[in-house]
Order: sequence, then structure tokens, then C-alpha cells
Amino acid sequence: MKSDTFLKLIGGLALAFVLPWLFLVLIPFVSASNAEAIPYGEEEAPDGGVVAYPDPTFYREGSSDYGRQIYAAEGCSYCHTQVIRPTYAGADMWRPGWGGRESEGLARETQPLDYSLEEVAPLGYQRIGQDLSNVGHRITTRELMHQHLSEPKTLDPDSGMPAYLHLYKKSPYGDNRLIPTPKAEALVDYLLSLKKDQPIPAGK
Ligand code: HEC
Repeated sequence: MKSDTFLKLIGGLALAFVLPWLFLVLIPFVSASNAEAIPYGEEEAPDGGVVAYPDPTFYREGSSDYGRQIYAAEGCSYCHTQVIRPTYAGADMWRPGWGGRESEGLARETQPLDYSLEEVAPLGYQRIGQDLSNVGHRITTRELMHQHLSEPKTLDPDSGMPAYLHLYKKSPYGDNRLIPTPKAEALVDYLLSLKKDQPIPAGK
């Protein structure tokens, strides 16, 4: 190989890596690194309610922050998304309960603000199971949520949801009851808190 051909090859390869890195990583990183949170004016509060969005009292209960870590560690995101797509990009808004409380006119697409309490937005990789953005409105009792996690086949014999039995202990009384570990309780706190349909301040 002649040396200038070789140089062109190396130069071409370098460009092929450097250009995407520059435009997809470095420039967006630098331009977003100084971004600051924008406080809402009082007049922007929905229905005269709280300005803080999402309202932390509405969204968090018990050990749900710990539960979020369990959700990540157990790989729930491999099968469950947490993003309600706009109707031009998918049928999410037509699926009952996915977008939120339809009967109260509160169902909506996911907005970037919905992730503001999350350290990492749990968007999800694939959608083998339902979207969980609003699962806290669909499944409202701890018992039922535990049953979905520990014995999904008792709810639907064809369920493709794995049974997370390692988050439960057998009852010491030999009655086949499953006792949730603290991890399971925290995960259920987190799932019950997933209600991403709160009205967002106007214009956001
Ligand atoms: C291998 C894919 C897979 C993984 C991993 C998985 N799920 Fe599921 N999940 C499903 C499927 C499929 C369903 C639908 C069938 C059903 O309801 O049992 C489901 C249903 C559910 C439901 C009921 C949702 C509804 O709207 O009725 C909840 C809650 C749930 N999963 C939570 C979790 C959590 C929490 C984890 C992680 C600990 C998890 N899933 C991991 C596949 C998965």
C-alpha cells in the first residue's frame, strides 16, 4: 500500500469517528452543560394549584426512591417503557389507561418535565409488557401489585411477565403465602407512585 493511500485511510477513519463525536456528543454536551432550571411564574400554575411540577407529595410515597433503584437493578426496563408517545408516533394514547386518568380528562403524552424527579429517565428498551408511566392509576392496591410481581400467572395464565420470586420469602407458617422483602415493598411503593398525568403549567 502506498503511503499516501494509507494516510488517506487513517485520515478517513479519524474523520468518521471524530465528526459524529463532535456533533452528537461534544457540541450537545457543551451547549447543554450550563442549562439551568426555569422557575415558573405564579400565573402559570395549573388551576391556581402548586407551581412545583411534578408535585412531590403527589408523586412520591414511602420508599419509592429506593424502589426506583430496584426497578433499575431488576431490569424492568428491558420489557417496560415509561414514555407515552405522541399520537403521530404510536398508538399509546388509544390504549386504555396508558396516558393517565381519561375519565377525568387528564390523559396526556409524556413531557420532559415528567422525568424531573428521576436521576435517570427509565425510558425502557423494548415494550414486551405495558407502558408503566401511569401504572399507579391502573393498579391501585399493594396486594394486586405484589401479585403482578410474584405470581403473574395467577392473574393471566399466558402472562409473559417473569415471577420475581427472589423478592419474596415463603411464609414460615407453611401456608404458601409469599412475604414481600423490603425490596419488594419499595418496588411496589415506586410502582404505585407512577402517575405521570398531572397537568403541567401552561406553555411548557
Ligand atoms: C421479560 C419481560 C418482562 C420483564 C423483565 C418484566 N416484565 Fe412486567 N410484564 C411483562 C408482560 C409481558 C406483562 C403483561 C402480562 C401481565 O400483565 O402479566 C407485564 C406486566 C406487568 C405489570 C402489570 C401492568 C398492567 O398495566 O397491568 C406490572 C406492574 C409489571 N409488569 C411490572 C414489572 C416490574 C416492576 C418488573 C421488574 C421487576 C417487570 N415488570 C419486569 C413482561 C416483563
